[in-house]
Amino acid sequence: MKYMESILYTENLTRKFKNGSNTVTALNNVSVQIEPGKLTMLRGRSGSGKTTLINLLGALDYPTEGKIFFQGEEISKWSERKRDKLRRKKIGFIFQSVALISTMTAYENVEFELRLAGYPADKRRARAKECLEIVGLGKRMHHRPIELSGGEQQRVAIARAISHKPQIIFADEPTAELDSIMGLQIIKLFKELVEKEQITIVMTTHDPSMIEVADKVYTLEDGVVTDE
Ligand SMILES: Nc1ncnc2c1ncn2[C@@H]1O[C@H](COP(=O)(O)OP(=O)(O)O)[C@@H](O)[C@H]1O
Ligand SMILES: [Mg+2]
Repeated sequence: MKYMESILYTENLTRKFKNGSNTVTALNNVSVQIEPGKLTMLRGRSGSGKTTLINLLGALDYPTEGKIFFQGEEISKWSERKRDKLRRKKIGFIFQSVALISTMTAYENVEFELRLAGYPADKRRARAKECLEIVGLGKRMHHRPIELSGGEQQRVAIARAISHKPQIIFADEPTAELDSIMGLQIIKLFKELVEKEQITIVMTTHDPSMIEVADKVYTLEDGVVTDE
């Protein structure tokens, strides 16, 4: 595929971490292309570099060497301030442990995110409800996280991540803390978001059973892409 068709691509990405006198090469010369409107999975064993790569793609980290382009712009050169703005406007994140605000209801969690994103006040209410309906929680939006199952909490996190209409969503092992049935439901929801809402999703997983739902898979081993 040509780079021009990618929403996001990397060129020869390397990320090294220093631990005292030791240097760990978490990623070594990785080039990936993320197509818009697709579900891309990064798979690999624990320690293979998945989190390191997704953090770089999501502009949460800087590479040691190599380049990252988002919508044609080299974001790996941008200042932290500019990248922060990019993340708030165009990117949504979903993490393994859900990190909802426990004192807020599902609805309030999503509404709060919209507030942080600077979404106009008169539109927040409708948008928060709409997102909770998209993820299948229309009837439970006034429950607090403790009153929801793990899978439902992850759905709230997804509603929150899509609320400000990002162009791309990154999910780092979003199913790791769920049983396999709930995990598969979350992946199906991702697939629906990609197909119906034209969102681009990049997620990591070490679970082979998730892979067949993906539009595109990159396999990582010891910081290197071994299969695509
Ligand atoms: N902040 C860090 N400091 C030192 N080493 C790190 C850091 N983050 C990741 N690593 C190392 O980089 C490698 C890849 O880690 P990671 O990207 O978290 O893998 P995965 O998400 O596939 O489990 C591992 O060897 C890990 O120990
Ligand atoms: Mg990880």
